Amino acid sequence: VSSGGVLRVELDAAPRTVTVGGERVTMLGYADHVPGPTLRLRPGDLLQIRLRNGLDEPTNLHVHGLHVSPEGNGDNPFVVIEPGQSFDYSYQLPPDHPAGTYWYHPHLHGTVADQVFGGLYGAIVVDEDEPLPVARERVLVVSDVSFDGAGNVRPASPQERMMGREGDLLLVNGQVAPVLEGRPGERERWRVVNACTSRYLRLVVDGQRFQLLGMDLDRSPIPEEVDEVVLTPGNRADLLVTLAEGTTTVRTRGYDRGGMGGMMSATSGPATLATLAASGDAVAEGGQLPQLPPSRDLRTGEVDRRRELTMEMGMGMGMRGRMMSFTIDGGEFDHERTDQQVAAGTIEEWTIRNTSTMDHPFHLHVWPMQVLEERGRAVKEPRWRDVVDVPAGGQVVVRIPFEGHTGRTVYHCHILDHEDLGMMGVIDVG
Ligand code: C2O
Ligand code: CU
Ligand code: CU
Repeated sequence: VSSGGVLRVELDAAPRTVTVGGERVTMLGYADHVPGPTLRLRPGDLLQIRLRNGLDEPTNLHVHGLHVSPEGNGDNPFVVIEPGQSFDYSYQLPPDHPAGTYWYHPHLHGTVADQVFGGLYGAIVVDEDEPLPVARERVLVVSDVSFDGAGNVRPASPQERMMGREGDLLLVNGQVAPVLEGRPGERERWRVVNACTSRYLRLVVDGQRFQLLGMDLDRSPIPEEVDEVVLTPGNRADLLVTLAEGTTTVRTRGYDRGGMGGMMSATSGPATLATLAASGDAVAEGGQLPQLPPSRDLRTGEVDRRRELTMEMGMGMGMRGRMMSFTIDGGEFDHERTDQQVAAGTIEEWTIRNTSTMDHPFHLHVWPMQVLEERGRAVKEPRWRDVVDVPAGGQVVVRIPFEGHTGRTVYHCHILDHEDLGMMGVIDVG
């Protein structure tokens, strides 16, 4: 059901002095806090954002996961906003836009990892018609960052760029290990955004009942009891957590993304994200979750076309003399080249291969992908994602309905350093 509302927002990308872990530091922000404001929308709404560039380099804006037009002043990744300039974005959500958690961040090739690592990100929530019966909802934007001794964001070394930089500090809504408080028995909905530049999260909530409602724009009809949830950079998880009395931690287990041997490894260690404290009188858990209609299932049936894409890392062939190349189908990103020409209205099956020794999270703008298999196993239910992990030496198979919008946009590795190094291609749907 469309509300047809209009949300107007001003974002001001600029260096900001903020407090992180008790220290005054300089980050980049869309407002005087990091992350930027959470934007709440309904299907059918018009979102208008005026972005002012207060940085000393060009930027632009991407609304990650939203099913909106990539053309003109829509979700156009080819826009360049010079320092001191503004740009008016306008995003019309279709009336049947999927509810879910999305996010926004800059997308100017070559600068994305630095700007996101610096602090430019925020959440977008598209609400359902019927809110879930929960005591409270939390939007938890997880990011990582490193500072130098002077309180400035530390730039990545060439090796960190190749492996994908991971920050020394993990932040939840811009804070180090915040305390999340509630009462025993309360049920909470958590919308977790992995806004880390390169770090995968393996989320666990110690000692708490923890259910997965969905990932990205996907909602399962029946919440799934889980021990952990893996989020690649760019993924979002929709969780139900029922609080048990006492204090526990929300953690990420380590994750091994692979590497290039020797010193060149991309393994993150375990870390604490937040403390969860439930005290006071116990309350009874909320009511039944609303029934969901079954999701559209593309797993069987005809497809109009099949394609194969290959994500590769090579030695000594990089652009501008770099010692490694990061490519899709042998090419580094070129905004003038169209890599995939797709007929509007068709359904395609893409097999995305990874010949390299590191995982790469594959992301497509505008059109959601239905995953047919994850980590080599067929999925039991239709699953919609906008970022899927392609494991080292492995592949994923997805089906994509190229419906609703036409235009030119991109697909890429969501390790944003790899995207900046060239692991991105151009798709034109028309
Ligand atoms: Cu979240 Cu093209 O990115
Ligand atoms: Cu995106
Ligand atoms: Cu990658």
